[in-house]
Amino acid sequence: MSAEILPAQAPARPYRPPAPLPRTKPLSTLGFMAALRENPVATWGIWNFEKPITNGRTALGPMTGVSSPEGIRHVMVDNVSNYVKDRLQLRVLKPGLGTGLLTAEGESWKAARRTLAPLFAPRTVESFVGAMQAKSQAMVTRLLAFPTGTRINISDEMTRVTFEILTDTLFSDAVDGTSQEFGQAFTRYFENQGKISPLDMLNAPDWIPRFNRFRAQPAINFFEEKVKQIIARRRGLIATPGAVVPRDILTLLLEAADPETGIGLSEAEVGANIVTFIGAGHETTANALTWTLFLLAKHPAAQTAVAREARDAENIAPVDWLDNLPMTRAVIEEAMRLYPPAPTLSRMALADDEVLGVRIAAGSTVIISPYVVHRHRTLWSEPDYFRPERFLPPARDQIDRYAFIPFGAGPRVCIGQRFAMHEAVIVLATLMRHLGFVMPKGESVTPLQRITLRPSPKLEMLLAHADAST
Ligand code: HEM
Repeated sequence: MSAEILPAQAPARPYRPPAPLPRTKPLSTLGFMAALRENPVATWGIWNFEKPITNGRTALGPMTGVSSPEGIRHVMVDNVSNYVKDRLQLRVLKPGLGTGLLTAEGESWKAARRTLAPLFAPRTVESFVGAMQAKSQAMVTRLLAFPTGTRINISDEMTRVTFEILTDTLFSDAVDGTSQEFGQAFTRYFENQGKISPLDMLNAPDWIPRFNRFRAQPAINFFEEKVKQIIARRRGLIATPGAVVPRDILTLLLEAADPETGIGLSEAEVGANIVTFIGAGHETTANALTWTLFLLAKHPAAQTAVAREARDAENIAPVDWLDNLPMTRAVIEEAMRLYPPAPTLSRMALADDEVLGVRIAAGSTVIISPYVVHRHRTLWSEPDYFRPERFLPPARDQIDRYAFIPFGAGPRVCIGQRFAMHEAVIVLATLMRHLGFVMPKGESVTPLQRITLRPSPKLEMLLAHADAST
């Protein structure tokens, strides 16, 4: 790396990245609602990070926070049929994601999951690696045009590259010319939709207008229209004799059929799942990468190690990087531990239950927060510190399956997990082969929860061209 930009020496001690300090006193009802709207990740109290389970009444009704691996396994696996997506979550997500997999329930979810599983099978995901690498390389070429020391908006770059990868693998760049407009509409949708309306918290009826929903509506309309056009065009192509039809996710969606019933997806389901894949897979992966780069900029030794590993991988095919670049994978996993892109998972109990000896009443909400679990005092040593080596083999094998849940767990675990991990490793390794990153002096970011956990303000860093000597 360019010597004047990138410090050659690693800090000797682990780095404690920015995070809101846990509260030491419970908030009043009004205070809780205001804090929840402002930044949900800042509402947690120290007790949440110390106890395996917490129980109480909040402005949102009775709520139980489950943070022990045993309790998480109970809710997400052993007694999963008793827990459905809760009302508040559906109210926030459903207007945009419709009948897609993320918001489906019961039998329709089961059928959709069976139908969509082949789209995310390892072989299929591997067929997308070429597109992931091409888009990553295009980003590097773009960035290399800037001289060392240039200030780059990393949040925007990661949003752009993950969006390009997703649209390319979804519909082979069929968004023609409007990709940026498409991306901006989605970001606007998330920004407005991601702020929880006090009316939703209070379970006010749907007909009372929510300001945020009102603002998100044009973005939702834009999407639905665009996605409809893309589907219609593809159907036309499939019906054209002799036409070359790309084997992307759109074609796979149109061909998909439930292996049990043989029934395919309706037009509305194809559209809803396209929007769902963008909604669930875009900001999440972009934030995972942005936080990873932030942590690497703060920890030059780790940055140098990743850069070396990436350059040494010259003779390894990108499809094998995920399993052969342990340090690259470890920093991404440690970034997702500290800043889980989906920081809160929630469910509603259908019937009375008991978790770790605590009664869960039917209708009450259970919160499983990857953010809390990943920083729990009883599950991790130095939980608030950046220590990627915990994810290097063989230490990684010691991590409880239910203590590290960036992709959730059980039957509703993220269907795009393998896609996201291949993508993150390929983007990061391709970048680190050619470039280094440094935080401008005196600047930092804090985590802000807007459905996903993003850096605030947007992350800007100084670019350094790599030189082979490091
Ligand atoms: C770093 C990136 C990602 C993270 C951290 C992430 C996280 C998650 C989590 C935590 C869940 C479970 C939600 C719950 O239990 O309530 C989930 C579900 C889901 N994710 Fe991801 N995700 C990522 C990338 C992706 C990608 C790339 C796609 C698709 C292209 C995707 C599609 C989905 C879908 C469709 C579901 C719903 C699955 C179901 O309910 O059956 N995700 N994701």
